[in-house]
Amino acid sequence: MHIRVLGSAAGGGFPQWNCNCDNCRGLRQGTLKAQARTQSSITVSADGINWALINTSPDIRQQIQSFTPLQPGRAKRDTGIRGVVLIDSQIDHTTGLLILREGERLPLYCTEMVYQDLTSGFPVLSMLEHYCGVDWHGLALDGEPFELSGVPGLRFRAITLSSKAPPYSPHRNDPHPGDNIGLWIEDSGRGQGVFYAPGLGAIEPHLLPLFESADCLLVDGTFWTEDEMIRRGVGSKGASAMGHLPQSGPGGMIEVLARYPDTRRVLIHINNTNPILDEASEERAVLSASGIEVAFDGMDIHL
Ligand code: MLT
Ligand code: MN
Ligand code: ZN
Repeated sequence: MHIRVLGSAAGGGFPQWNCNCDNCRGLRQGTLKAQARTQSSITVSADGINWALINTSPDIRQQIQSFTPLQPGRAKRDTGIRGVVLIDSQIDHTTGLLILREGERLPLYCTEMVYQDLTSGFPVLSMLEHYCGVDWHGLALDGEPFELSGVPGLRFRAITLSSKAPPYSPHRNDPHPGDNIGLWIEDSGRGQGVFYAPGLGAIEPHLLPLFESADCLLVDGTFWTEDEMIRRGVGSKGASAMGHLPQSGPGGMIEVLARYPDTRRVLIHINNTNPILDEASEERAVLSASGIEVAFDGMDIHL
């Protein structure tokens, strides 16, 4: 299985267009040892030809430009993207659907809750009916594996996560299973598995077997601390209110990942305020010492 990280940043990207935090300013001015990052998406394939796109970032156009296998290679109008899987209905994961409007009918795999959000609070799927249209495949939760038609060799499972539906969701304050999922992605030939969960608010008991059996954990790297946005003076929400488990401190992601020293562990969906973006930071050194990687745009993971 080949996973290509198309976009490793959280919503807003890095640098964010209007942000003057130390990270964003430092990157613009060239004083920070860091790489720019686009918004959250990965793509995965078992044969290198047929790709599942996981989330559609507002930066999808640039992301396709950066990765030849997704580009038209066979016909006048063509793509290596065989279908899209959405893990939630957040702007950073769904706005790119509008950019794909010139294509063929789009096979789309998401939960009932995400489908509802995307036909109500943010009716992007209803809008797309006037363009390419989508063929929606509902996802069973925590159940049977599913495959994407045209993407041979891969099996997926939708794992319910306690996180948050977006502000425009009709169930923002009334959480439902399926508002957010993680994805178990498995190579059906070789059995290698990755657990992908860029929005992970809590480590619930049903996740532990996945953490244990994964060959690679590609998990929430949004915030270093609970109050990071507040402390940096750029927001009023805490990490948990946004459905993200911070990395540092007791019960944080580093402590959780420390239990799996033999597994490849990669943080993804990194907010532009997170000090780990600075490759010279103490926080980044803590990760390196713990054997935890930080995803970057263009990162390839072969399992
Ligand atoms: C999140 O996952 O919390 C988002 O990145 C927020 C956003 O896109 O505004
Ligand atoms: Mn996000
Ligand atoms: Zn910033």
